[in-house]
Amino acid sequence: MKLGSQAHKELFCNQFKATHRVFEPEELPWPELGESDLARLRAVPFWQEVFHTERRAGAIVRAFAETVHDPLLREAIDLQGYEEARHARLIRVMIERYGLEAKEQPVEKLPDDAVTAFVDFGYGECFDAFLGFGVFKIARQSRFLPDALFALFDVLMHEETRHIVFFVNWMAYHEVERGRGAAPLRALTSVYYYARALGRLVGTVRRGAESDGVNFSATQADVFLDDFSVRRLVRECLSENARRMAEFDPDLLRPRLLPALGRIASSALRLWPERRPSPQPV
Ligand SMILES: [Fe+2]
Ligand SMILES: [Fe+2]
Repeated sequence: MKLGSQAHKELFCNQFKATHRVFEPEELPWPELGESDLARLRAVPFWQEVFHTERRAGAIVRAFAETVHDPLLREAIDLQGYEEARHARLIRVMIERYGLEAKEQPVEKLPDDAVTAFVDFGYGECFDAFLGFGVFKIARQSRFLPDALFALFDVLMHEETRHIVFFVNWMAYHEVERGRGAAPLRALTSVYYYARALGRLVGTVRRGAESDGVNFSATQADVFLDDFSVRRLVRECLSENARRMAEFDPDLLRPRLLPALGRIASSALRLWPERRPSPQPV
């Protein structure tokens, strides 16, 4: 498959369209939650951030779609915008159903350059999804919340995986179109945008920690944090990434930089003890 070719474009657009699922968030099988599950769900400090991020995502992707002239690309990007807006609706349904504390904040003015906004957003999604794969797996295995709820979140994770596969293919296509398709140049471009995405992620985490993230870790998250170690996180990110990426056509590109860095980190962390031995009773 020649990157940037008509066949490449048709493959990544058509696969994206073919794997779109039709559903309405209100009609998903939302489970009844008991008091302790509700308390745990309500203590998660980032619902407001997630809700806002998804609303902003829908706005960025749809604004970009309006600037795209190629009908097939436009249709696929429009569909992604629809899915992002539906993520926001899904989070809204959850907030209302379970009485979560998350306000709707106005979406800030979008950047004038819709292409750069979409590219920045795309690399950010690659970052969030890769880390999210591992966190999601650990949280699900620790039974932090009922599995029926994780099954619903998995719908969202699956769509985010489709988004990042679509994005890395679109990005390669876009770079070839601009005469910047050489592999080293594309790698450098990726590093540049990943660094920007990391900067934004660090900012978000810092803001979260300054608000109520500390309370969360000290109270409701024990179940989750007991199972947590950086080494395990990296391992789960890698294995979940491999599992989720395996379902896509082998001719499509996948995000490569973060898994490569993850493998290096995983090898380095193997030299570290998994967990400090717990003190023995005397
Ligand atoms: Fe989303
Ligand atoms: Fe997305």
